[in-house]
Amino acid sequence: MTDSRAAEAAAAVPALTLNNGVTIPQLGFGVFQVPPEETRVAVGQALEAGYRHIDTAAAYRNEEGVGAAIAQSGLAREDIFITTKLRNGEQGSPRAAFEASRKALGIDWVDLYLIHWPVPSQGLFTQAWKELESLYAQGLVRAIGVSNFLPPHLDELLAGANVVPAVNQIELHPSFQQGALAQKSRGHGIAVEAYSPLGQGQDLESGVLAELAQAHGATPAQVVLAWHLGTGNIVIPKTVSPERMAENLAAAGIKLSDAELELVSGLEAGHRIGADPAVAAFTQL
Ligand SMILES: NC(=O)c1ccc[n+]([C@@H]2O[C@H](COP(=O)([O-])OP(=O)(O)OC[C@H]3O[C@@H](n4cnc5c(N)ncnc54)[C@H](OP(=O)(O)O)[C@@H]3O)[C@@H](O)[C@H]2O)c1
Repeated sequence: MTDSRAAEAAAAVPALTLNNGVTIPQLGFGVFQVPPEETRVAVGQALEAGYRHIDTAAAYRNEEGVGAAIAQSGLAREDIFITTKLRNGEQGSPRAAFEASRKALGIDWVDLYLIHWPVPSQGLFTQAWKELESLYAQGLVRAIGVSNFLPPHLDELLAGANVVPAVNQIELHPSFQQGALAQKSRGHGIAVEAYSPLGQGQDLESGVLAELAQAHGATPAQVVLAWHLGTGNIVIPKTVSPERMAENLAAAGIKLSDAELELVSGLEAGHRIGADPAVAAFTQL
């Protein structure tokens, strides 16, 4: 793709303003399950396609690849929004974990740092949040947030927090929408970021999506991503295919009507793919 086409694709992605005034490209590129040795190339291709928002995590073990791609891209650091996450097993030492991530990424600041899972059985997330607030106060991270936080975890965190999380990154796709959690998050000014937004590819077979795709001259994946954008979610699809990178990014140009958004919302089926945050307790180490 030429530089000007990439710039055009990047410009079509809406910028969403978080509760602290920081803006985030509403459609980004996720790198969960991108093998570490393939990450530099995949993220390089994504940046070339026009993505300006990359979602990684210490637990994905591919922060170095993300950093290498950014360094090689020739793009200004401030033109790329980078999210990474605190490993579950490092909730007792967030500052050291953050510094390790920052070093692996080879960057001076992180745009968004998230507590990856609440792991309620550890009883550490409120304490960890204090350290994230301190990283934020120091300007090492432009926004802080959480991931996989259910209503009781949000309540517990907010009771002791000075900074309201900017984002709650949760599993959210047409067959698993977590409506009450999304509504509660937004009610506190916390933006909803949808992970596994395509249901890891499992949500794309529905007849409703096929019909909407035909009506818009689009693919089912693009319809799903347009639904996320239309309902206000930040969305971070993953692919290692350059064709799909371009396809997914182009969803920013598709607008669904309210009635069409409703049709996709009708696909709710309570189909969770990932772990249940109420009980998930893996260390990610
Ligand atoms: N916070 C958390 O706990 C958490 C958990 C899970 C994920 N995440 C984040 O969310 C990101 C996305 O979630 P995800 O990777 O689980 O799932 P996803 O983005 O919903 O789906 C990825 C899968 O869909 C396929 N795919 C991508 N674009 C497609 C298209 N246009 N048409 C058909 N198939 C397509 C990909 O295959 P190919 O790669 O072969 O194209 C891959 O198998 C992750 O990368 C990560 O950054 C966060």
